[in-house]
Amino acid sequence: KEAAGKDPSIPAAAEPWKVGAYLSLSGAETQFGIETKEGIELAVDEVNKKGGVKGRPVKVFYEDNKSNPQETNNKVLQLITRDKVVALLGEVASSRSTIGGIVANKHKIPMITSSATAPEVTQIGPFVFRVCFTDDTQGQMGAEFVVKTMGKKRIGILYASDDVYSSGLATQFRDAAKKLGGEIVVEKSFIKTETNFTTYINEIRDAKPELVYAPIYYNAMVPIARQAKAAGMPGSMFVGGDGWDAETLLQDAGEEMEGAYFTNHYAPDVPWPNAQAFLKAYKERFKRDPSSLSSLGYDSAQLLFDSMGRAKGDTPEAIRDAIAETKNFAGATGTITIDPNRNADKSIVIVQIKNKKFTYFAAVNDKAQK
Ligand code: PHE
Repeated sequence: KEAAGKDPSIPAAAEPWKVGAYLSLSGAETQFGIETKEGIELAVDEVNKKGGVKGRPVKVFYEDNKSNPQETNNKVLQLITRDKVVALLGEVASSRSTIGGIVANKHKIPMITSSATAPEVTQIGPFVFRVCFTDDTQGQMGAEFVVKTMGKKRIGILYASDDVYSSGLATQFRDAAKKLGGEIVVEKSFIKTETNFTTYINEIRDAKPELVYAPIYYNAMVPIARQAKAAGMPGSMFVGGDGWDAETLLQDAGEEMEGAYFTNHYAPDVPWPNAQAFLKAYKERFKRDPSSLSSLGYDSAQLLFDSMGRAKGDTPEAIRDAIAETKNFAGATGTITIDPNRNADKSIVIVQIKNKKFTYFAAVNDKAQK
C-alpha cells in the first residue's frame, strides 16, 4: 500500500533534491547574505533550466540566521533534521560558518561555504568545504603586494580583535610582511561594536606608516575611511582584504577610498571567460554589477550541483566524496580545485577602488582560466 499523501503517478526520480542555505539575510551583515542568495538563485535557475541534476530539480531551502551565532545553530539544525537537506550552502562570514560547520559535520551533511576564508572553518572536519581561498593565502598575497609590488616598508595594521576573520587575517599578513622585510610600526585593534575610531587613527597617523593594512568588514571601514580623512590620512593609504567588497563601501566612502587596493575573489571587469558569462547573466536578472559574494554564492551552488551529478549515489556521504574530488572546476571566480584539506586552490584578484567602482588590477597566485 502507498504511503498516505504520496502520489504514485509521480516517479520517485522527479522528487527535488533538497539543499539548505543558511545566510545573514537580516542583521549586521545583511548585504553579504542577500548578495550570496542572489548568486545561489541564479545557479539554481540555470541548473533547473537544464533539467536539474540526474533528472531531478533542485530546491533550495533558505534560512535567515539574522547575522547571529545562536540563530545559526538553530537554523542549520532545522534544515538538517526538519527539512532533511542532503547538503548545505553557507555561511558568508567565518564566525558563523564555524558554528554551522560544526553542526553539519556532526550530522554528516556536506557543507560548502562560499566566502568564509578563515583557515579554522574547514579544519572542523571531513564534511566542511569552501570555494573561496583561505586567509593564509590572502594574507601572504596582501603582504607581497604591499612590500614587493607597492614597495612599502613602514606598515601599520588596524583590525577587529573580536572577529575571527579580521584578527586571523591580520596575523597572516603581519607574519608574511615581516618575512618579506616589512616593519610593523604601529598596530591597533578595536571591537566590533565601536563606532568612533579617532583615537586609533590619530595614534596610527602619528607613527607615520607609509601604509595601513585594514583587514576588516565594509561596515567598519566606512567610518574609518571618513574619520581617517578628517585626520589627514587619505583612503589610498589603506590596503584591505575581501571584507571590503560591498556596494555600501563605494556608496558611503567611495570618494574617501579612491585609489585604495584590496585582495578579493572577483571584480566585475576580471578578464576570465566564466566571470564574464556570469556577469552577463547576473546583470540581466538583477540590473547591476555582481559583488564577490554573489559570484561566490553562484560558484558554491554550481560546484555542489556538479558534484551531485558526479556522485556515485544520492546520499550526503556520496555527495561529500564527489565534492572532495573536484578538479579544475570552471567557476565565475576562477578555476577551482578542492585540495586534500577541503580548501579551494585558486587565484586571488587585486582590486583597486577607482571612480567609486571596484576595478580589476591584477591576478596573483594565478590559476585562472587562460
Ligand atoms: N571572508 C570573509 C570572512 O570569512 C567574508 C567575506 C567574503 C566578506 C567576501 C566579504 C566578501 O568572514
